[in-house]
Amino acid sequence: MQSSCRICGGVVLKSIDLGQQPRGNGFLLPRDVENELTFHLTMGLCGSCTMAQLQGEVPQELRYHESYPYHASVSAVHREHFEGNARYFLEHELTGPDPFIVEIGSNDGVMLATIAQAGVRHLGVEPSKEVAELSMARGVRVLSEFFDETTATKIRLEHGPADVIFGANCIAHIAHLASVCRGVESLLGPDGVFVFEEPYFGAVVDNTAFDMIYDEHSFYFAVRSIKAMAERFGLELVNAEPLPLHGGTMRYTLGRPGMRTPAPAVAEFLDEERARGLGEHETLLRFSARVERIRDDLNALLARIRAEGHRVVGYGAPAKTTTVTNYCGIGPDQIPYVVDNTPAKQGRLVPGTHIPVLPPSAFHEDYPEYALLFAWNHAEEIMAKETAFRDRGGRWILYVPDVHVL
Ligand code: TMP
Ligand code: ZN
Repeated sequence: MQSSCRICGGVVLKSIDLGQQPRGNGFLLPRDVENELTFHLTMGLCGSCTMAQLQGEVPQELRYHESYPYHASVSAVHREHFEGNARYFLEHELTGPDPFIVEIGSNDGVMLATIAQAGVRHLGVEPSKEVAELSMARGVRVLSEFFDETTATKIRLEHGPADVIFGANCIAHIAHLASVCRGVESLLGPDGVFVFEEPYFGAVVDNTAFDMIYDEHSFYFAVRSIKAMAERFGLELVNAEPLPLHGGTMRYTLGRPGMRTPAPAVAEFLDEERARGLGEHETLLRFSARVERIRDDLNALLARIRAEGHRVVGYGAPAKTTTVTNYCGIGPDQIPYVVDNTPAKQGRLVPGTHIPVLPPSAFHEDYPEYALLFAWNHAEEIMAKETAFRDRGGRWILYVPDVHVL
């Protein structure tokens, strides 16, 4: 299967096939199981610019709607991180007269709330109404639209150029990324920066984190592919900083060409990525073989635990749960329920496999012998607060980078 690259038009070859899948965040009510939408989930690399990307596309209106269930503020670690980001921008980038910052995908205002409190001009662009309203309640200004070239022009006319354009766990979600780049190029001030943080493709490969692949993640960024993208749209990659979030995130900083001196990290990461073959099809074929191994090992482990008469429940219902359970064929028979602290997900079913999502109290009231940690990127935070489970003999099952029991 081939498709054309959404960034440069080059040929994208299929390297990973996760089969028929529903929308990753399409948590549904039991009465809606009849009309569930599924699509063939495959991912590949562009032979020209090396951008890793999905080959098909679920229309964005079906993904970021009224009740988009992901709230960035549910994690204490994330809240702290984004407040730190805001303080960094206030101290280092928003220092001129009447500075202006735009956030693409501002979610529930987790970052911009701090900017708003400092009285600095800002605008969040957030198409999902429910989370946009949460941020408005925190005093954040929001435009409830998709960010693209047209929106960028409108913002520039109304507010002037931006000193910072920021996006976190959002830019790689946007299938029309080429239009976003053109928009950024027109909205950015002369010495402005476009800063975005997204899961790092190198970490996805290292962790065999195939569950990061779902309909919302249109792209999987690496330093090399972002550098090529920046140049294509008249920008320059000036920094790449690894962060520990989401199991391995990279923060990219783009500026106008020649305005900032690129940090040595850019060249260092380019060398490293070249040496490990990150932009090569063969690397992904090996990744794909490891994914099949995880599927087989996980199914074997779940079958063994059941044969021993023990229970396994799921912990955390990130969209990753959808990919793993659908790809591995794990349903309520293997895992009777998953718990998640997001109220909007509770009482719903995991897309495709229809495992019920319950509040964490279900877990606390009746500890199972095993918990399969779907929210593995929050392992430290979750294990630290669930020590009582361990104290009663409970064991955690992780499936990345391979299947193991802790
Ligand atoms: P994420 O991996 O996309 O950040 O999503 C993490 C999911 O895990 C989200 O649905 C919230 C849930 N979660 C819990 O249920 N308990 C927790 O302590 C944490 C940190 C997350
Ligand atoms: Zn390309």
